[in-house]
Amino acid sequence: MSVAVEVNDLVKVFGKIRAVNGISFTVQPGEIYGLIGPNGAGKTTTLRILATLLRPTSGTAKIFGHDVVKEAEEVRKIISYLPEEAGAYNQLTGREYLEFMASFIAETGEEVKELVNEAARISGLGKRLSDKIKTYSKGMKRRLLVARALMVKPKVAILDEPTAGLDVIHAVHVRKIVKEYAQKYGIAVLLSSHNMLEVEYLCNRIALINRGKILVEGNPLQLKDHYGALNLEEVFAMVVSKHG
Ligand SMILES: Nc1ncnc2c1ncn2[C@@H]1O[C@H](COP(=O)(O)OP(=O)(O)OP(=O)(O)O)[C@@H](O)[C@H]1O
Ligand SMILES: [Mg+2]
Repeated sequence: MSVAVEVNDLVKVFGKIRAVNGISFTVQPGEIYGLIGPNGAGKTTTLRILATLLRPTSGTAKIFGHDVVKEAEEVRKIISYLPEEAGAYNQLTGREYLEFMASFIAETGEEVKELVNEAARISGLGKRLSDKIKTYSKGMKRRLLVARALMVKPKVAILDEPTAGLDVIHAVHVRKIVKEYAQKYGIAVLLSSHNMLEVEYLCNRIALINRGKILVEGNPLQLKDHYGALNLEEVFAMVVSKHG
């Protein structure tokens, strides 16, 4: 089977800052891969390059063989991207927003309905979908955007801190759905997170990233074992103090 995401020696320089400093990794179809690391580590920059929104300074990134710079159009057709900070059409209701987004990919009205029903389930917004987005709380907007990103069943979902700002109940709900989508539809998920419990539950593999470099990569359980750590926070602290 072909590789879903292939990143090779990726570098992004902003002026004097090397935000991404030679990162390489791959993600397989159906796999959930997590980038974790401190503020400013380069997670969002990496995800934005993969989402075709930023050009790398050097190195390559491919989504199912399509180069994110040279074949950006092709890439955009098969990914969905949840930005770190996203606004969403405040004047629309949640349902109108989802219908609008569904209309880009659905062929029939019936299909639009199915997608929106699915998104409604993902968002857990219930009756609030009939309210304008501008009346939503931060977490409610986030859930709407996660629902949009997943309802289209992309080949690759790029999710920048999908559960940031969500309460425990909804964070658990969203995690379950991300996992379900990866398994059921073979979607490759590339996400970033600050929540170690989350990545432990969700990710098949994680990369600990610091100052634009991957310090260590692996399966969360194996990493804990390898470092003799009780949890990933400990692994992280050990690795950063060693390489940091
Ligand atoms: N558009 C930009 N212009 C200049 N510098 C930038 C830009 N975007 C990011 N940076 C810098 O690149 C580095 C990496 O930022 P990035 O947003 O990728 O970090 P992050 O790992 O997502 O952090 P966080 O956990 O806070 O979201 C930081 O030093 C940041 O200041
Ligand atoms: Mg970020």
